[in-house]
Amino acid sequence: MTSKKDLVGQEAPPAHLIVRGIDKSFGGLQALREADFEVARGEVMALVGDNGAGKSTLMKVLAGAYSADAGSFFLDGNSVSIKSPNDASDLGIQIVYQDLALCENLDVAANLSLGAEPVKAGWSFLPHFLRPIDNLEMESKANKAIKRLQVRTLHSVRAKVSGLSGGQRQAIAIARAVGTESSVVMLDEPTAALGVAQTYQVLQVVKRLRDTNHAVVYISHNMQDIFDVSDRITVLRHGQNVATYITSKTTPDEVVMAMTKGIDKNSSGSIQNAI
Ligand SMILES: Nc1ncnc2c1ncn2[C@@H]1O[C@H](COP(=O)(O)OP(=O)(O)O)[C@@H](O)[C@H]1O
Ligand SMILES: [Mg+2]
Repeated sequence: MTSKKDLVGQEAPPAHLIVRGIDKSFGGLQALREADFEVARGEVMALVGDNGAGKSTLMKVLAGAYSADAGSFFLDGNSVSIKSPNDASDLGIQIVYQDLALCENLDVAANLSLGAEPVKAGWSFLPHFLRPIDNLEMESKANKAIKRLQVRTLHSVRAKVSGLSGGQRQAIAIARAVGTESSVVMLDEPTAALGVAQTYQVLQVVKRLRDTNHAVVYISHNMQDIFDVSDRITVLRHGQNVATYITSKTTPDEVVMAMTKGIDKNSSGSIQNAI
């Protein structure tokens, strides 16, 4: 069987989300300078760069949390506007933030339904927020979400989040962001605080997102994770693009060099787009 990596190695898939020429300043500090980015469905695009390179800012611009000063957005070739988190989620773009924002005292099922809890039938004379929660429906929805992402280590969706491991929490946060309507899922350093076994578990979930035809954006510092999970790698430095690499055609050394020093445009055969 041909793997996704081989296909990407031959030819990059058509991009689902494309952004061009993104500028973003905070006061006098220009965090992004004419930044370009793209990701295809069924692809994991890693976004790498040193601290302060602009990775989280770019992701927040894509998620509508920050409004870009300049730039264009395209989804499946159509020009779109992303000015608020609502715009982004209406377009199917979801972000899993570093702090996860899960409710410790609630169980997994409640966390997965947060803000959109299913309510019991027959109570329509009450305003929606006063109707009793349909716990069975909530549990069944949660079980489906967990199954879709093949989170194998979680034994019950009735488990409280406070008792879960870091890897399990990350998986729940991903399951919540993904829902059923999303096409782009962005993860900011999802394995930063995790040990080896839990990192493995999260990477499996990220691969599962790719296999379910999501466009996945993966920010990480960890070269091993990046080379395990990504199809392409976009390198940012001082808010600008350095290059986009096809993962199977480059090396960790080359990527680290691009992150820290930029590239010598004459020396590399593995760069897809040198900018
Ligand atoms: N909300 C903000 N206000 C002011 N400066 C910010 C803000 N967010 C990010 N920055 C600055 O923008 C630059 C890029 O930051 P960031 O996108 O967080 O980098 P990265 O995620 O690559 O480490 C940094 O210099 C950072 O200090
Ligand atoms: Mg960051």
